[in-house]
Amino acid sequence: MKSLENKIAIVTGANQGIGLAITKQFVAQGAIVYAFDIREDADYGEGVTFIKNDVTQESDWKTGVERVIGEQGRIDILVNNAGVIAYTPIHEIELDEWHRLIAVDQTGVLLGMKHTIPQMIKQNYGAIINVSSIWGSVGAANVVAYNAAKGAVVLMTKNAAITYAKNGIRVNSVHPGFIHTPLTDSQNAVLNDVVIAATPMGRGGEPDEIASGVVFLASDQASYVTGSELVIDGGYTAQ
Ligand SMILES: NC(=O)c1ccc[n+]([C@@H]2O[C@H](COP(=O)([O-])OP(=O)(O)OC[C@H]3O[C@@H](n4cnc5c(N)ncnc54)[C@H](O)[C@@H]3O)[C@@H](O)[C@H]2O)c1
Repeated sequence: MKSLENKIAIVTGANQGIGLAITKQFVAQGAIVYAFDIREDADYGEGVTFIKNDVTQESDWKTGVERVIGEQGRIDILVNNAGVIAYTPIHEIELDEWHRLIAVDQTGVLLGMKHTIPQMIKQNYGAIINVSSIWGSVGAANVVAYNAAKGAVVLMTKNAAITYAKNGIRVNSVHPGFIHTPLTDSQNAVLNDVVIAATPMGRGGEPDEIASGVVFLASDQASYVTGSELVIDGGYTAQ
């Protein structure tokens, strides 16, 4: 039996990488997916509707969520996956960069939850998965804005889990280690090798290895799981 049969899901940052893998696994599990992204190059196939959405823009959330509710009458699942990274240390960061990363990686997660939770309260049902990172749990050199935002996502997740537990809404965070995606492909190869070398399994992960964890948290198989941090990192943070 498919674990997400007829569930209505929103996935942000769905155009590539981890978001695209989540979108495809959701469809394979029977969900109807709304792919939210600033870009649309992906071949989504059947079962997916693209909606242009910049997660930092509240007006985009308003119109996007209204459209999903107008077409489907409900929202069962939200995956806040869109994210950006920059490797700038504290003493060199410009405020523009700080604000941009916080806007996408932290405020985007807040806005996604803010605009979908009212519908989930009405339904007395919902599952929210916020994609944080290993670097939301432990520090890493230079990535100050990313560390700050991904760390904030952990406690925003627990806040929402506690606040809406009695409304039938589960909220969990997912913490990927190094994953091969267009994001990491475009990074400095030496830097990537350092992270992979520090991973006990000795390899990077694949987007599908994150997506399968997200499918579990989105499904009713995780009916007693809320406020948790699902680490999928080849052992990186076990050390
Ligand atoms: N790849 C990794 O190693 C890794 C590790 C830990 C956490 N993560 C997290 O996983 C998530 C996905 O990462 P990825 O590697 O697939 O990245 P990616 O860059 O390959 O894909 C990110 C997607 O987000 C979209 N996006 C960017 N800014 C947006 C915005 N303002 N509004 C809407 N969409 C926007 C992009 O267009 C793109 O489709 C991110 O939150 C990232 O921080 C990734």
